[in-house]
Amino acid sequence: MMASLLSFLLAFHLTVIMSSSLTTTSEVFSEQSLAKPVEKLTQLHFYFHDNLTSKNPTAMQIVGPPKGSTGGFGAIFMMDDPLTEGPSPSSKLIGKSQGMYAIASQHEFGLLMVLNFVFIEGVYNGSTLSILGRNVVMEKVREMPVVGGSGVFRFARGSALAKTYMFNTTSGVAIVEYNVSVMHV
Ligand SMILES: *[C@@H]1O[C@H](CO)[C@@H](O)[C@H](O)[C@H]1NC(C)=O
Ligand SMILES: *[C@@H]1O[C@H](CO)[C@@H](O)[C@H](O)[C@H]1NC(C)=O
Ligand SMILES: *[C@@H]1O[C@H](CO)[C@@H](O)[C@H](O)[C@H]1NC(C)=O
Ligand SMILES: *[C@@H]1O[C@H](CO)[C@@H](O)[C@H](O)[C@H]1NC(C)=O
Repeated sequence: MMASLLSFLLAFHLTVIMSSSLTTTSEVFSEQSLAKPVEKLTQLHFYFHDNLTSKNPTAMQIVGPPKGSTGGFGAIFMMDDPLTEGPSPSSKLIGKSQGMYAIASQHEFGLLMVLNFVFIEGVYNGSTLSILGRNVVMEKVREMPVVGGSGVFRFARGSALAKTYMFNTTSGVAIVEYNVSVMHV
């Protein structure tokens, strides 16, 4: 009895504190609050497989470099690349990297990456992370911002580190290791 009275008083007290500290403005169509959700940090590790070979390509060039461009500047590729647990192409599939990369630099092999990582495994099934970044492929480690996410990764922001595991320019196959750190609710 005493305990439930105490918890009632405590709950009432908290409600008063919270509502007095939440200065909100609203219109018929809107509601604003100062709610600060507790954030989680998730770290992901996987491998990305980009395969431009003609037999079973996972990525394709959709726009050629314009006449007179240097180093392929202006070329655009579309990908639906597998993401796997390990570096082997036959390792367990955990998702896809869907989006575009474009040669955005005239002076080095520098890509603009615009993509969604779409996960299919366990609690992450259907959740996505959105990446918008610069990828200077010949650098050892490249950092790209995570600009958002959905599902488990709602309100995400973070950082993706990419390191080339294997790159065969003749066959057009690249395997890239990713470590992604993401804050989300
Ligand atoms: C790339 O695709 C070719 C042709 O389908 C296939 O033989 C090869 O194993 C693939 N390589 C990788 C690393 O996925
Ligand atoms: C992921 O979700 C899809 C659609 O809801 C479902 O068909 C599929 O079986 C799920 N995959 C796993 C590994 O849970
Ligand atoms: C990812 O993290 C592992 C373990 O710390 C490390 O060995 C690897 O080099 C990292 N790779 C990248 C691309 O940051
Ligand atoms: C790169 O790909 C070419 C063509 O598929 C192949 O002949 C060559 O052995 C590969 N190189 C390496 C280092 O895997």
